[in-house]
Amino acid sequence: MIERIKEEASRLLPEMIEVRRHLHRHPELSFEEFETSKFIQQRLTQLGIPFEVVSKTGVVALIQCGAEGKVIALRADMDALPIQETNDTEYASKNIGVMHACGHDVHTTSLLGVAAILKNMAPELKGTIKLIFQLGEEKLPGGASLMIRDGALENPAPTAILGQHVYPELEAGKVGFRSGKYMASADEIYLKVIGKGGHAALPDRNIDPVLITSHIIVAMQQIISRRRHPNMPSVLSFGRVEALGATNVIPNHVEVAGTFRTFDEEWRLKAHELIRELAENTAKAMGGNCEVDIRVGYPFVKNDEVLTKNAKMHAIDFLGPGNVVDLEMRMTGEDFAYYSQVMPGTFYRLGTKEGADGKMRGLHTSTFDVDETCLETGAGLMAYLAIKSMEE
Ligand code: NI
Repeated sequence: MIERIKEEASRLLPEMIEVRRHLHRHPELSFEEFETSKFIQQRLTQLGIPFEVVSKTGVVALIQCGAEGKVIALRADMDALPIQETNDTEYASKNIGVMHACGHDVHTTSLLGVAAILKNMAPELKGTIKLIFQLGEEKLPGGASLMIRDGALENPAPTAILGQHVYPELEAGKVGFRSGKYMASADEIYLKVIGKGGHAALPDRNIDPVLITSHIIVAMQQIISRRRHPNMPSVLSFGRVEALGATNVIPNHVEVAGTFRTFDEEWRLKAHELIRELAENTAKAMGGNCEVDIRVGYPFVKNDEVLTKNAKMHAIDFLGPGNVVDLEMRMTGEDFAYYSQVMPGTFYRLGTKEGADGKMRGLHTSTFDVDETCLETGAGLMAYLAIKSMEE
């Protein structure tokens, strides 16, 4: 079985490279994936796989195997980022200011590869494969939440879901797994600190929102150092502070934006409360005001212990022990979290780096690119994991 899937994946590689390059040339932003969606639908039609369009641009397809059995969902996201590509390749983005800089072109191509492999083998297999081509991963409220709301996990309801993401820190041909908590919840924090502007030389006549903001930002870190349980990874970062005064002008207000990330729903809500209280009360104590707006983002990604342990074991059988690594927890977010919060799921990483000393091309940068041989693993391993999961 392993040899057969590997041969299929290797036979499909040139075609997958074509598909990936096509998607890479024509990236579309979150919730605007109309052409990408059409392209996926055409490929599925060519393969003779029935599908439904969900949440405008999402696509859910079903491969019914020869015998009844478990329903397993496989998910790939398909949106791109608002980044101007600077790579000088023949397949560089043709859409100005839009780029597949997070590898979702690889995820989509791999899942189409899986579809081709499993469609061929289906008569001999037991179960049902649900292919979820998901929109809008990069932007709140997250395409996963919309597709779940619109019934992507019903009729039939899968018992488990698998997803993969490119990983430029790992060489192509390798993959990584992690059981339990893997990626953080991510919320956006917006503060508007209101004082009273005026001449910088007459501070007693003003309420200085710049100084108040400075106190708030420093004080906020005590929520992380003193109120958080020491065992609970959390990050509170403010990347944007806008005070439009001058050397001699105190502004009326300051705007601040940041992110809060962690791995526990109860602490997450508690922390929101503490952030709000601390910002409002610090501002008040100094004669000002603070408006706090917390936009709740994705929950944390929880990889099911049993599913992940089994998937890792099968990956070792498929790729060899030297090609399967354990991953560290990450503070980045992923809307795969929405699936993993409602059903057993595992989200694993697909190595995309060129060779051991290949250049690392960071995700979300204008120079991101992959070693396209990763598609062979991206499709082959996922097909194998799907088959094994249907059996378990
Ligand atoms: Ni991504």
